[in-house]
Amino acid sequence: MEKLWWQEEVVYQIYPKSFQDSNQDGIGDIKGITNRLDYLQNLGVTMLWICPIYRSPMDDNGYDVSDYRSLAPEFGRMEDLDELIQEAGKRKIRIMLDLVINHSSDEHEWFQKALEDPKSKYHDYYIFKDGKERPNNWRSIFGGSVWEKVPGREEYYYHTFGKKQPDLNWENEKLREELYDMVNWWLDKGIAGFRIDAITFIKKDLTWSDREADGVDGLSKCTKSSRTQPGIGVFLHELKENTFDRHRCVTVAEAPGVPYEDLDDFIGKDGYFDMIFDFRYADLDIASGSEWFKRIPWTVKELGEKIMASQMAMQKYGWAANFIENHDQPRATSKYLQEAQDNPDAVKMLGAMYFFLRGTPFIYQGQELGMVNFKRDSIGQFNDLSSIDQYNRSMEEGLSKEEALEIVNLRSRDNGRTPFPWNQERYGGFSQHTPWLMMGEEYPRINAADQVGREGSIYEFYKEMIAFRQEGPCRDTLIYGEIAPLASSENVIAYRRFTDTETIYCWFHFGKEAVKETLPQDHMQTVWSSQKEVYITENQLVLQPYQAILMRGK
Ligand code: NOJ
Ligand code: CA
Repeated sequence: MEKLWWQEEVVYQIYPKSFQDSNQDGIGDIKGITNRLDYLQNLGVTMLWICPIYRSPMDDNGYDVSDYRSLAPEFGRMEDLDELIQEAGKRKIRIMLDLVINHSSDEHEWFQKALEDPKSKYHDYYIFKDGKERPNNWRSIFGGSVWEKVPGREEYYYHTFGKKQPDLNWENEKLREELYDMVNWWLDKGIAGFRIDAITFIKKDLTWSDREADGVDGLSKCTKSSRTQPGIGVFLHELKENTFDRHRCVTVAEAPGVPYEDLDDFIGKDGYFDMIFDFRYADLDIASGSEWFKRIPWTVKELGEKIMASQMAMQKYGWAANFIENHDQPRATSKYLQEAQDNPDAVKMLGAMYFFLRGTPFIYQGQELGMVNFKRDSIGQFNDLSSIDQYNRSMEEGLSKEEALEIVNLRSRDNGRTPFPWNQERYGGFSQHTPWLMMGEEYPRINAADQVGREGSIYEFYKEMIAFRQEGPCRDTLIYGEIAPLASSENVIAYRRFTDTETIYCWFHFGKEAVKETLPQDHMQTVWSSQKEVYITENQLVLQPYQAILMRGK
């Protein structure tokens, strides 16, 4: 496979509202990010993905864009972004923005004009249907019908996500052209590329027919008729041809629902994107990304199998975007480690397990500190609209209030959105003003000031691990090498990374009792370990509780 610049990146994801407040209004902002570039450079990351910073009423914290070409005033001015791009560039850090083009905000000028005048060209930029009743029984991702009635008219508009996020009508050519112009305008500004939001939703089943209900609300999850639908490739190809192909940029698509056999179209040589996120292992504890109350038990073995299935499928056609956290997921410590979430050895092992997979690693803000979920004791303490919906839906489906709250605490998107803990002062050094969302309870214990420069801290571990991938003696194998699963005991996830000349065997032990693994070759050499001591007896490796080890063979 041809080597491509973005394969060597280590991406750090920033949720701007919660990273650093620079003007003491309780809301993180662009200047705040610029002020913290040294922290990011010291960690060793090479690219930032910044969640949406466009003008927005913030119903879904920026994933509801009301003007694609200007910034949310609470985040700053265009000069601030120019400065961030420049200052980051000086530190060899590139900037990737979020592109939200499945839907806009209902406060976008196009939607407002569409409402004002059904005969305006903007009316067809969205999906409207006439009628006294909602046109079908599809359920939106954030709850309730996908159809919202237009006040004062016998007409409905379509929204995959929240009511304030009407879907754009990709069937309209003029709309598509406007979007391509806007994408090119941003790329011309010098950003490195885009993370592309919810892009597998842009094509709908145009028969709009009802489906069999899958909940007591009589509705049916809209994904079946509005995600990865036949014909979507035409739009995705056109998007790429008219925008990304004209720049030396990188694209990472949020593309849930793509069957592995279709990956060639998405990330193959002429695929629509450079990489996509695969959510199959991130959502292994629930029935689907939007049904938190249908919980599923899982084992380490299953986690390993899901990860390897994903890696093998990605490798067959292209490149993966690897992650264990993002702004829609609970903290990886709490999800994957559970009672061991506070054990630094376990947190490090988990970090290494996904970091050395084949693909570009993504680190979500606070992951490098081992942040954990934040347990809230009433639904009123949540901001995230899907948490509130899942709470109500859980009760509708028969769960008690307490059970519903527990489910939401486990899965809420607010877990990862708490303000970043810079130090142990009031509001964790995030702001001097009450933050827009409550700080987690753990910041006096888990914070950056405590960890930066402290030997053995999780931050220093991430820093070392990044340097090892980027500049260590096995960098070529760890970045470009192939991957294959490696047989291992129950609580160990193992794989090997290899080139023609070198194989690196990797073991990640999720258990709390030492366990033995047979060494696959003689004369192997330890190249990296998450713990100081490595125990080898004859041809066996004795993995200590929560240890990660990389060994070199032929
Ligand atoms: C996926 C984003 O990651 C999420 O935060 C957002 O709510 C939805 N798409 C809708 O834009
Ligand atoms: Ca601010």
